[in-house]
This record gives sequence, C-alpha cells and structure tokens, in this order.
Amino acid sequence: MRPFSIRWGGADYAAEVTPSPTPVDLAFRNVAILDGSGRPAVEGDVGITGDRITAVGTVGPATVDIEGAGRTLAPGFVDVHTHDDGALIRHPDLGFKLAQGCTTLVVGNCGFSAAPARAGHPDHGGLIGLAPTWNDLDGFAAAVESAGPALNAIALVGHNTVRRLVMGNEARPPSAAELDDMRRLVAEAMAQGACGFSTGLIYEPGRYSDTAEVIALAREAAAAGGLYTSHIRNEGDHLLSAIDEAISIGREAGLPVQISHHKAAGARNWGKVGESLARIDAANAAGADITLDVYPYTAGSGPMAQYFRLDRLDPELAAVIRFASCPAFRHYEGRMAVDLAAEQGVAPVDVIRQVLTAPEGDRTICIQFIIDEADVETNLRHPLMMVGSDGIVDLAGRPHPRLFGTFPRVLGHYVREREVLGLAEAVRRMTSLPADRFGLVDRGRVVEGHLADLVLFDPATVADTATYDEPKLAPTGIEVVLVNGAVAHRPGVAPGDPGAGGARAGRFLRRATAR
Ligand code: ZN
Ligand code: CU
Repeated sequence: MRPFSIRWGGADYAAEVTPSPTPVDLAFRNVAILDGSGRPAVEGDVGITGDRITAVGTVGPATVDIEGAGRTLAPGFVDVHTHDDGALIRHPDLGFKLAQGCTTLVVGNCGFSAAPARAGHPDHGGLIGLAPTWNDLDGFAAAVESAGPALNAIALVGHNTVRRLVMGNEARPPSAAELDDMRRLVAEAMAQGACGFSTGLIYEPGRYSDTAEVIALAREAAAAGGLYTSHIRNEGDHLLSAIDEAISIGREAGLPVQISHHKAAGARNWGKVGESLARIDAANAAGADITLDVYPYTAGSGPMAQYFRLDRLDPELAAVIRFASCPAFRHYEGRMAVDLAAEQGVAPVDVIRQVLTAPEGDRTICIQFIIDEADVETNLRHPLMMVGSDGIVDLAGRPHPRLFGTFPRVLGHYVREREVLGLAEAVRRMTSLPADRFGLVDRGRVVEGHLADLVLFDPATVADTATYDEPKLAPTGIEVVLVNGAVAHRPGVAPGDPGAGGARAGRFLRRATAR
C-alpha cells in the first residue's frame, strides 16, 4: 500500500490507495493457513484461479467465497501407500479417500501395480480387482483419465506384477533372459512416468527373488530418477535383517528408499520398531536416503492366501485373524477366526483351512491384529515418517477401517488427543514431504503458483469414525477438498449451489523427471 496525497476541493487529504486487487475464482476467507512446510499457521485468505493458487494472504473479490474462520487450510493430503490402482477406474468418485482430505494417491505399492499388464488377462492374486484393458503405464493412465477420478494419482511399477508377467509364479531365480525382460518392463514404466519401483517381498512371487534380482530391477528405477518402495521381506522375527536388505538395495542400486507400513509384527517383536528406526537413522547419517510410512492402526490387512501355507498353518497368526472380505462365507465377514472356531468346536487353523480351500478362498481379505499401539506412536514421532493408508478396496465386506479413516485418525487421535506430534508437523508429513519424495510437481504446499490441491478442516473436530465393526463411515471435520482448483468434496452444500462439491478433476501424474 502506497500512501500519497490528493488535492480535492481545495484541501489536502492523505489517503491510502491499494492497487485494485485481482479477482479470483474462489477464495477461502479468514483461514489458518498451514503451508505444508511445517511452519506454524498464519491467518489470512487464499485465492484460487483456474487450477492454481494465485494469492495467499490478502485476496481480492472472488466468484465463490468460502468462509473459513476457525478452520485450517492445508495442502491436500498425499496418501503415499495405496492399493487404489483399480479403484481409480472401479470407484472413480473415491469418496473414501476424498472425505479424508486426500488429493493425491500413490498406487502400485507392495509390488502389485496395474501396469504393466496383458490386456484381457485377469489380475491373478494381485490387488487391482479388475481385468486390464491396457498393456503398459501409458495405457493404464489413459484408462484412468477416461474414468475421470476425483483424485490425482501417480504410480509405482510393481515387482510382483513384472515378475509374474515374465515368469509366472515360478519359485526360482530368473534366467538371464527373464531378468532382461523384467528390467525392460521396469525401464519402460519409468520412461512413461512411474515414480519408482515397489516390492512386496513377503508375497508370491516376489518372495522367490533374491536381493541381487531386486537390485538389478531397482537400478532401472534409479536410472530414471525414481525411488524404491519396499514391503520388506520380513516384518516380524527378522525385521532388522529385512531392513538391512532394503538399505543395501538402496545403496547398491543408488536410489532413495521408502520403507512401507513400518511395523514390528507379532507380540514377541513389539518394541523392535525403535531398533529398526535407529538402524535407519544410522544409515541416513552415513549417507543413505531412507524414509518411511505407517498406517495409524494396530492391525494389518491383505490377501489371506498370501499369509498362510496350507501345509503348515501358523496357529499364532490364526489366533489374531478377522475376516474382512470372504466371498466363500459372507457371514464370516467381520468375525474373528477364534470365535468361529469356538462355535464350530474346531481349532482356528481349521477355520483358516476351510476358507482357503473353499471356492474363491483365494479372494479372501483378512485383518490381522499384529501391531503394538506403542509402536504406532513411536513410528509417528519419527520426522521421516509419512502416512499411508494401505487400504484394500473390496467394499463388499468389512474392510479394514484404515481405508476410510487413516488421515483424520492421525489428526484427531494422534495429534489432538494423544499429542504424539504437532498439527503443523503432521500436515508437513502428509503434504510437502511426500510431494517432494514422490516427484509431484508444484504440489504439497500452499504457495502462489502451486496447483490448488487443498483441504479445509476443523482441527478441533477432525476425527475418524470408521471402526472394525462399522468400517465404511466417513470422518468428521473435513469440510472442503479442492483437487486442481475444483471443489471435489463439500458435504452439506447442495449440488448446484456455488462451490458445491462433486468435481472429478483428478489427473494421472508423471514423475517430475519424466518430462
Ligand atoms: Zn504391503
Ligand atoms: Cu500395501
């Protein structure tokens, strides 16, 4: 503002004249702005024109005004660990993610990715949930774009997927020619904009690989500027050696590492995440580049067939299994194997066998209570810990509540109630940290020029409501979500009203260096 004097009516008047502020399409008024950097909030307005943030602080007139007093405006959350590859097409409204304040999804985790694929061939044993009509990442991206998802997505290329395409479920090392084929598939996906290479080394067929195979494939991601994300080979008794393997893969292949859903599985291993984090800190101090993610729950979830071997069913694991989605016995959904076993007068492993050997038994998704609450908090205190939901999108049963509740649960339970970490820091870990890590361009911060992926929430009420018994409940306190400048989520505002939600403005993103 430039003070100057004007002569009017013969008298001198000192006046303050502000250059006429540029109008914007949409303005958030009087919000506490958390810019994503971890700095404390500042009060002000934020203006959006088209798909970009065009003003922060003082904002001119707007076509749509959203009053946000008492609310916090933050960059939209990046869910770094999802299995939403198929959901982008099957459920493009993605209500379960939008309602949490998420605006970008990283897909292709745990070694399972939608691309590459063989068009028309079903996704055997993967987590995609639909038959691909594409062969490569470009084809998958086109299918996603034509479905019109509500959120942005960026993809990893998965080891299990690539290995199965080249050599089926063979439990042996690849031949030189097979390894070349796998390398070519990884390199091609990277060239088409994948942000990195993922493994799921407990799963079939990834578990048949040795470290050298993973290093060879990770090198292709390294050459393209991507990262390596790892569901490590063992999260229980051999957690520490599995962490060492991931560290060595990063070192030998020369790329950053993301440890997925960091945990110490099984009661006798609880507390080990402290040692595991210390090992990662030491590696980072010595020049490694390792970050992590976690989901804020004490149960995991995944395809049950992957966790059990029929010839030696693990009774300890059977004792903590609950059925999420069970096409063979729908009435088992939401129930613990131990309770079903007691009713039938058999052992829990017998219930597991009964389900796995039934028709469609391989499509069972289970929930396993294997994690210590104190370890969840230890994880969330670590400055390099991001948040990933790891939800599996089978909405027919009773999915793990993390699919609907992850981000509000961190902000409500762990930030507000437990004070495990501060709000600005939690938001940084959900926004700028993952955006930088996964190569998102101009996202993850509330600054002029960035894409307008934004969430308006009430820090006093934000909370998850989804439970294991009622898992499909939307969180509270998430009031407005913008994706690429369009209002995607705004409960309580009728469709057709100015600024109403419902936009499906998500984009398929390519790694920053892929251009
Ligand atoms: Zn995993
Ligand atoms: Cu996963």
